[in-house]
Amino acid sequence: MYYPEETVEEVRQRSDIVDVIGSYVHLQKKGANYMGLCPFHNEKSPSFSVHQGKQMYHCFGCGVGGNVFTFVMEYENFTFVEALKFLAERAGVKLPEIEYSEEAKRAADFKGKLYEINKLAAKFFFYQLKNGQGRAAYDYFKNRGLKEETIVKFGLGYSSKYRDTLYKYLKQQGYEDSFLKDTGLVTFDEKHGGYDKFWNRAMFPIMDAGGKVIAFGGRVLGDGTPKYLNSPETKIFDKSRNLYGLNYAKLSRKPYMLICEGYMDVIALHQAGFSNAVASLGTALTGLQAALLARYTKEVLLTYDSDGAGTKAALRAIPILKEAGISVKVVNMKPYKDPDEFIKMLGAEEYQKRLDVAAGSFFFELSVLEQSYSFDDPEQKTKFFHETAKKLLEFSDEIERTNYEEAVARKYGISYDMLHKLVIRYGSQMVVVGGTYVPATELQKEHSSIRGEQRRQKREGEDAGMQAQKLLLTWLSSEPKLFGRVKGIITPDDFNEGFFKDIASMAFAQYEQEGNISPARIVSHFEDKEEQTRAAELFQTGFREEMDAAGQKKAFEDTVRRVKQSAIEQEIEKAMESGDIERFQKLIEEKNRYKNNFPIPEYIPE
Ligand code: GTP
Ligand code: MN
Repeated sequence: MYYPEETVEEVRQRSDIVDVIGSYVHLQKKGANYMGLCPFHNEKSPSFSVHQGKQMYHCFGCGVGGNVFTFVMEYENFTFVEALKFLAERAGVKLPEIEYSEEAKRAADFKGKLYEINKLAAKFFFYQLKNGQGRAAYDYFKNRGLKEETIVKFGLGYSSKYRDTLYKYLKQQGYEDSFLKDTGLVTFDEKHGGYDKFWNRAMFPIMDAGGKVIAFGGRVLGDGTPKYLNSPETKIFDKSRNLYGLNYAKLSRKPYMLICEGYMDVIALHQAGFSNAVASLGTALTGLQAALLARYTKEVLLTYDSDGAGTKAALRAIPILKEAGISVKVVNMKPYKDPDEFIKMLGAEEYQKRLDVAAGSFFFELSVLEQSYSFDDPEQKTKFFHETAKKLLEFSDEIERTNYEEAVARKYGISYDMLHKLVIRYGSQMVVVGGTYVPATELQKEHSSIRGEQRRQKREGEDAGMQAQKLLLTWLSSEPKLFGRVKGIITPDDFNEGFFKDIASMAFAQYEQEGNISPARIVSHFEDKEEQTRAAELFQTGFREEMDAAGQKKAFEDTVRRVKQSAIEQEIEKAMESGDIERFQKLIEEKNRYKNNFPIPEYIPE
């Protein structure tokens, strides 16, 4: 860390969270908490809670949370160091002078510098749009129907024709090659030295959810390849965890989000009033992006291109979004290619109508399946219904499945009874593998390979282990004397994921030294806002209120057992892979010691 931990802790302690957040949000005392309207999403009734004792905040609506640093970082869009300086000044804490060389300072706040240079580059490209050669790009945007205010809103720009205009400018501003080489803006080669990554392109700054520029997409003016050039990954740009347009979309007061394919689609949609549109960054939608979206919405409408590639992309995105707990519909834009073109041809009102009748993901998937069967041929039609019956088994909720069976029967003109019988028939061919139902092998061969299934199960097993680790940390932090009960059983080493292990190590050490733990202090150990939020989630303890004392006791003990057992399982697997027989045998002994229902001592005050 840039500043000593004691300094960070002093600033945190002198910045009362109710006081700080209260200067942004109107808070009202409700029991042990203060409640207010969440500043990070739109809501009408307060679900944003600030806990003075714990010095933490949490929104039950959108899931954000953290300590006083997290709040200021999120609200002001500051880096950790910026938030620290801001709060230090507010609290009258003098931060120690740090006598580092220019170079060392840059290294210490490398990310901050990256944000700074990306912003500078965005301004530079924007300026160029109205000057000299930039006219061509300006006309290009205008020809594509963009209004002046849209160009400004998205900060669109132009990168010059010459090979090193930006590079020279950045050098002039005092940036060194050693830093520039890691920004993604400049490329170096031995013969020519530094030259710009983007030449003669229409520039789209890519912003993170907080509105900070983190990278660029550059489009050729007219035809040519590659059509788009994107910044390479940097310390602040990971294209799998950002979404274009999210900085605006998260503020739109719409019950769902739109996901489209391209930058131009997002921009055209926003211009037409659909301010809830986002796009992934030239790659398929990832689980991280789905999780990011899940913070802001429960429903997504996919408005991908109408061609085969768009359909394929939608089929891939559906399970990823569903996995994140988002329900999905698919928009039909035929005969037009994409939202940009659709709106240009038919206008916003017609597009809204398409949104209103968008098909649920199940029926979208069926309509794709349908295309590979000719219904004139009885044999193929039969096959289609068999496939459909298998697909219906995806619904584990019986009522939901019945509703879908009825809807399918109506839509495809088959009697409900007949379809239902078929579903039941396939259902009875399911077998239990490792605790979950999967189709019997013959079906499995047709559907998914066994290995894939096993991999899925293994992943789920790991997830379950992680879930237990997370829960255990929550238990321990909510009632620190529970540390006494896990003594001799659980150590920080039983937390296998780096992040949880870090938190567990801090929590165990704090308890050891002080007999208590401070969630807010643990949170400020992380400088990354996402990590702070993730850590803060662990300290949300509302779940216990729903359980009686016996239920709590059992839940806690089960969690301890699961953490221990999954830690041993993982160690066994490692020992097997490395062929370490001795370790393997020791672990098997340990596994026997911690068999099902192994006892967990009651708390004995020392
Ligand atoms: P236009 O309307 O033709 O300007 O583009 P678009 O925004 O509609 O994009 P398109 O549907 O052609 O492609 C979707 C997205 O894929 C784009 O916004 C880019 O993010 C990405 N993409 C397209 N072409 C390329 C390419 O050649 N290279 C890379 N890296 N990404 C591309
Ligand atoms: Mn397009």
